Amino acid sequence: MITLHDKVFEPFILEDEILDRIGTMGATLSTEYADKKPLFIAVLNGSFMVSADLMKCMSIPCEISFVKVSSYHGTSSTGRVDELIGLNTDIKGRHIILLEDIVDTGVTVDKVVKLLSVAGPASVKTCTLLFKPDAFKGKKTPDYIGFSVPELFVVGYGLDYDELGRNLRDIYKLKED
Ligand code: IMP
Ligand code: MG
Repeated sequence: MITLHDKVFEPFILEDEILDRIGTMGATLSTEYADKKPLFIAVLNGSFMVSADLMKCMSIPCEISFVKVSSYHGTSSTGRVDELIGLNTDIKGRHIILLEDIVDTGVTVDKVVKLLSVAGPASVKTCTLLFKPDAFKGKKTPDYIGFSVPELFVVGYGLDYDELGRNLRDIYKLKED
């Protein structure tokens, strides 16, 4: 068990299981995007760890770029999303794989997909390590999902609770008392 700020978290998905699943996702994407030279667009900060591990599992030519949106504070999603920062690659005609650490309400992913779509990509698909189906109110379920999880607050492996916990190798869930 670990404590971050005022909350206690317990182990939920361990590193081995995460890396195993990412290996499978990388193999799938490498098959489906063979000859398409996909451009991963990873949404910072949370996706930094999954991006690194997923890229190592890609066996085809591919590129990665990082963007940032500000959208979230504390333990429940606010639904507030600002603009897209940092995209300096021309995505016209490119096959985009939007990479997220977690899709919760889907507000962030919807907004980013919308912002990317106006720049004329050949295709945009979404890939997320974690998906909370019960919280999701978005337009389209993510195309590639690592783990579907219940509506719990989770940290670790890039995910934070008020900026703490991103460095943890495993994913933890909020401990119920
Ligand atoms: P959205 O509700 O799908 O727009 O998710 C917005 C953002 O909230 C995600 O990119 C995460 O940064 C954050 N988030 C949602 N659920 C969790 C969680 O369980 N732990 C940590 N961050 C979360
Ligand atoms: Mg995030």
